[in-house]
Amino acid sequence: MKDLFAQGNETGEKSLDQRILELFREKKGGVVSGEELSSALGVSRTAVWKHIKTLKAIGYRFTAIPAQGYRLVSSPDILVPAEISSGLVTRRIGRRFICFRETESTNMVAFRMAEEGAEEGTVVVAEAQHLGKGRLGRRWESPPGVNLYCSLILRPPILPTQAAQLTFLSAVAVTRAITEMTLLQPVIKWPNDVLVGGGKVAGLLNEMSAETEKVNFIVLGIGININMRRDQFPNDLRHPATSLALETGREVSRLEFTRALLTALDDSYDAYLTNGYDTIREEWLSRFSMNGREVRVTFQNNSQAGMVMGIDDDGALLLRLHDGRVERVLAGDVTIL
Ligand code: BTN
Repeated sequence: MKDLFAQGNETGEKSLDQRILELFREKKGGVVSGEELSSALGVSRTAVWKHIKTLKAIGYRFTAIPAQGYRLVSSPDILVPAEISSGLVTRRIGRRFICFRETESTNMVAFRMAEEGAEEGTVVVAEAQHLGKGRLGRRWESPPGVNLYCSLILRPPILPTQAAQLTFLSAVAVTRAITEMTLLQPVIKWPNDVLVGGGKVAGLLNEMSAETEKVNFIVLGIGININMRRDQFPNDLRHPATSLALETGREVSRLEFTRALLTALDDSYDAYLTNGYDTIREEWLSRFSMNGREVRVTFQNNSQAGMVMGIDDDGALLLRLHDGRVERVLAGDVTIL
């Protein structure tokens, strides 16, 4: 029997636990009788009771009302389909959720699913990753229960050369969700880091499958440090990192944050498909922290310094070198001088 997490199972079919929770949600805090649950789900009352016990063990609180049934009193802050999709109203993003207690990397899972034909809007989420992937082959620290690690499958009708626009779109959605949930004002560091107070709070890793003139799919991978504590960050980070909880001084609901992020992604993707890239680009530039700054960009064994002059439509950083030439930089690590 599948539990609340689609653990190791990528079919996305609903678990009995999920259906039990949906029945409680429909009652909006009211009492649901054991009889109602067992006949709606087609299982015995003993089976219903066993599932309520499992749900209690992962943090759901029920009260038993003698001779009437159960009331759902509170839900834990866990990232499972039944919770994320509750009250979420989106057009494309979140048509299907696959959630794991732990997986290698949500990007890897989403990429495989997309290759097998998973539909646009599929979202893969994990409570922890043991092979979390960062940019340029680095690892992404992914301890359980504190952050958000998710990957979305999109199938936009664009050319491969336009794919970087989706990275900008996801960075914009991340900054919107952060401001909505915390009132913090994040900035974007090229190519795809989101910073608060100088520390990195989110990273984006987008991967694509394409032919010469057609994108098959794009996986948008998003990692957000939500409630990570100082001692959970590794010591060997190249750049300072932070979390929303460290910046606000309070815990942030991961579920509410996830819903805010998926809504922002859905809105900006809809705007992108309807009106094109211009509005996304403007919003991205309004959050871009590096215009006019002297920086050094390092990529593999190459390093060049210059002044940031903006970005172009393909997502390249425009760097004015000291000899006056403007260079298009396609990849690298930026340090502000
Ligand atoms: C970066 O280096 O800044 C990019 C980090 C991207 C991390 C996210 S977490 C969810 C998704 N799955 C992964 O393995 N990586 C991305």
